[in-house]
Amino acid sequence: MSTYDLIVIGAGPGGYVCAIRAAQLGLKVACVEGRETLGGTCLNVGCIPSKALLHASHMLHETHENFAKMGLMNAHVDVDWDKMQAYKTETVGGNTKGIEFLFKKNKIDWIKGWAEIEGAGKVKVGDTVHETKNIVIASGSEPSSLKGVEVDNAGGIVVDSTGALALPKIPKSMVVIGAGVIGLELGSVYARLGADVTVVEFLDAITPGMDGEVQKQFQKILSKQGMKFVLGAAVSGTSVANGSAKVTYKLRKDDSEHQIEAEAVLVATGRRPYISGLGLDKVGVALNERGFVAVDDHWQTSVKGIYAIGDAVPGPMLAHKAEDEGMAVAEVIAGKHGHVNYSVIPGVIYTTPEVASVGLTEEAAKESGRKVKVGKFPFMGNARAKALFQAEGFVKLIADAATDRVLGCHIIGPNAGEMIHEVCVAMEFGASAQDIALTCHAHPTCSEAVREAALACGDGAIHV
Ligand code: FAD
Ligand code: NAI
Repeated sequence: MSTYDLIVIGAGPGGYVCAIRAAQLGLKVACVEGRETLGGTCLNVGCIPSKALLHASHMLHETHENFAKMGLMNAHVDVDWDKMQAYKTETVGGNTKGIEFLFKKNKIDWIKGWAEIEGAGKVKVGDTVHETKNIVIASGSEPSSLKGVEVDNAGGIVVDSTGALALPKIPKSMVVIGAGVIGLELGSVYARLGADVTVVEFLDAITPGMDGEVQKQFQKILSKQGMKFVLGAAVSGTSVANGSAKVTYKLRKDDSEHQIEAEAVLVATGRRPYISGLGLDKVGVALNERGFVAVDDHWQTSVKGIYAIGDAVPGPMLAHKAEDEGMAVAEVIAGKHGHVNYSVIPGVIYTTPEVASVGLTEEAAKESGRKVKVGKFPFMGNARAKALFQAEGFVKLIADAATDRVLGCHIIGPNAGEMIHEVCVAMEFGASAQDIALTCHAHPTCSEAVREAALACGDGAIHV
């Protein structure tokens, strides 16, 4: 048994990145992972497999919707679900193996098994207690449950995101409970594959927390693609019989009860921290009122030498947020100055078109008492987006009215998830909308729309 400088618990984007950075900084590092493969939720049952299915189903959608418009005639594509699943599995495998390679390269010990913290500096895996100077909890999250709804991923009818990534067949109909990121991404996968998809959402708008104009336009676009929405509806239960499920919900406006039947039901009502079996109560690691591990500005928990990051701690449940915290906490442990700028964390929904945002929404900026300028530019004025048949969205840039400093950006359009990063960099540098407006953007690119939105914060956009 060796003594480590750092043992990381969990090899998701938070944990594996933390382990690699700590090793690069000269620490002796081990990472404990209970799954068979590295990469956590993100690589195994989250970001990566969902993006593989989104990509494949997007390609199918293109053949149906847009090929003939471009003179590519008679494209008839059959879906081989098993092959699509194999492509997804191969994509995942390539990436999880990649992390294994990085662990070897950085001389990180992968301790296989489930970890329990015995006390500061002691991590038990199986019958062995490993000694370490520091511990980072990066144990991630799991789908939250819903009263009256029993998820059975193996059964393939009422499933959570993990089950929805590997359904035994493409269902003819699907009810998605929750119009958040998972519901809309995976819902649109199955809608493009031919399922009749109905999304039932508790609130009166989809994607809670997003800019209001984006919410409305996004719903309009998804509806045009064939997805149906029941908003303001609280799901109270599901029942399964004869290979299909019934979902019962109550409309909040009049308390009336309704049922819909579908071959598959995706429960996507949020995720909660996964901390079971870690022994946190025994060691005295405090949780906050919502069950997340409580940490200070340096990701230290209530117990000295035990840190926590990623989905297990408060903040957006995003892989890149977990990665940033992983790098930063490794630097703190190595005696450096790790830092995460929580006001510049982009969020992306990988539908077609993509939806991306960073910083304050118009509503939040106004609520904070600021006077703001809003520069909006529709992709209808962008040549590239029109050629891609994705000109229904817009870029909306929010700047401080007094200083012109960029406060936020919201994009619904082609490759929005790539485009958002120029605004992230601008915000990191404290740039003004004029700084973006004065930056030459290549033509013809979709990114020109970001510049036009910045111009709209000043003397006006050109192509409107
Ligand atoms: P995780 O990735 O959850 O990893 C934690 C790991 O710790 C797990 O492998 C677990 O087995 C292990 N573990 C837990 N307890 C123990 C223990 N006691 N001992 C040993 N090992 C343990 N985010 C994005 O940014 N972009 C996306 O496109 C995106 N898509 C998603 C799609 C889906 C369907 C889902 C479910 C999530 C998606 N997310 C996405 C969210 C993203 O997956 C998470 O934010 C991210 O994985 C969190 O990283 P983490 O390291 O904190 O935890
Ligand atoms: P979410 O929090 O995004 O959305 C859950 C939705 O379910 C909310 O709109 C909520 O109002 C609704 N809801 C809750 N109870 C309900 C009920 N009884 N009836 C009807 N609706 C109900 O959670 P989701 O989609 O499960 O995603 C979990 C996390 O995974 C998110 O925090 C997200 O950050 C992360 N993720 C990120 C992705 C990305 O970055 N592209 C992709 C997928 C997941």
